[in-house]
Amino acid sequence: MKVMSVFGTRPEAIKMCPLVKKLEAEPDIESIVCLTGQHREMLQQVIDIFETPVKYNLDIMKTRQTLTTITVSILEEIESVLSAEKPDLVLVHGDTSTSFATALAAFYHQIPVGHVEAGLRTYDKYSPFPEEMNRSLTGRIAELHFAPTENNRKNLAAEGITGNVFVTGNTVIDAFQTTVKKDYVFKDESIRSLDFRGLRCILMTAHRRENLGGPLESICRAVRRIVEEFEDVLVVYPVHMNPAVRDTAERILGGMERVRLVHPLDVEDMHNLMARSCLVMTDSGGIQEEAPACGVPVLVLRTETERPEAVEAGTVKVVGVCEEAIYENAKLLLTDTEAYRRMAHAVNPYGDGHACERIVRHILEWKKDGTD
Ligand code: UD1
Ligand code: UDP
Repeated sequence: MKVMSVFGTRPEAIKMCPLVKKLEAEPDIESIVCLTGQHREMLQQVIDIFETPVKYNLDIMKTRQTLTTITVSILEEIESVLSAEKPDLVLVHGDTSTSFATALAAFYHQIPVGHVEAGLRTYDKYSPFPEEMNRSLTGRIAELHFAPTENNRKNLAAEGITGNVFVTGNTVIDAFQTTVKKDYVFKDESIRSLDFRGLRCILMTAHRRENLGGPLESICRAVRRIVEEFEDVLVVYPVHMNPAVRDTAERILGGMERVRLVHPLDVEDMHNLMARSCLVMTDSGGIQEEAPACGVPVLVLRTETERPEAVEAGTVKVVGVCEEAIYENAKLLLTDTEAYRRMAHAVNPYGDGHACERIVRHILEWKKDGTD
């Protein structure tokens, strides 16, 4: 059975590379990886760490690319790969333009699609944008749905998608378990040289399309106030390579003594820094799944989340994108030990680190049922 995994951005790679490893270990599967190259440097960082063998790279990234150019380039470029390889199954991940465009291309070739990280929903088509629609549309096309949680399965059922839906856990936990080490030495010089003694480290990231402009400015201003008010707080912000993100971050936070604006960290550095932080502030999806697993409270810099499980467990709080609300919520956790303690307990609603094995097993069973 030929299985072609297609991905193109950093988070997809972090969550797909452990799965590719398991697919390769399975004698009944021929595993092929095709990168769209929606991201370039940030994708390569992950491929290098997991030593993932790549057969095709469509290399479509352009500086300040638009949703249209990403989608059109993938549709055009992947055509010859699908025609040449004729895979039995195409695997896509999550909610990016890579996921949707690849699923659509596979559909045009009548190749079944397996959707990894299926069933996440906010039910607001413009938030996150365009991810909510990307994952809904990918779900319509997919034949196999690998839902991380029972809640995700219910979302699909409510849309009438009930066949071949499997609750597997999230593959990010599989990845996470291999990257975090006790005596880890950071590869990034700017992190390795940090003196954490006597400082409380806040790890922040922000990059979402709907936060670009005004909301990102408010986020950065809130962080600035926190650092100015709390002399023992150090903020590390690995800044996404999007120039629209970099410009704002540097304008508002650049030059502050206890704010480190660093290049995107590789995933090992990132996960180990997360495990050593006292607080995470982020608009990322994946980080909302990772930080709870190591007992670090998360303030979500968005107005909604498609990942309610950790919110229900009490370790994640959605605080929105207004300066005052972000500042007040961070201040509370920095001053009220009881409020902090309530949020800082390790929970793992997103899996047990065996999601990839389950996905491979379901793929093989599906194939067997189809050929019996
Ligand atoms: C994409 C995904 C988003 C995901 C995010 C993860 C879509 C529509 N968005 O958004 O769901 O949360 O990835 O990070 O699929 N750039 C580089 N080098 C890189 C990567 C990006 O220079 O390695 C710059 C380029 O100028 C690029 C810009 O960042 O045009 C934006 O990249 P893009 O993939 O369009 O959007 P993201 O915000 O990264
Ligand atoms: N990440 C990383 N280096 C960074 C920032 C994030 O390795 O500098 C990892 C992070 O730990 C998580 C994933 O990238 O596994 C999240 O990606 P991102 O925030 O870009 O996308 P999202 O999850 O929001 O789609």
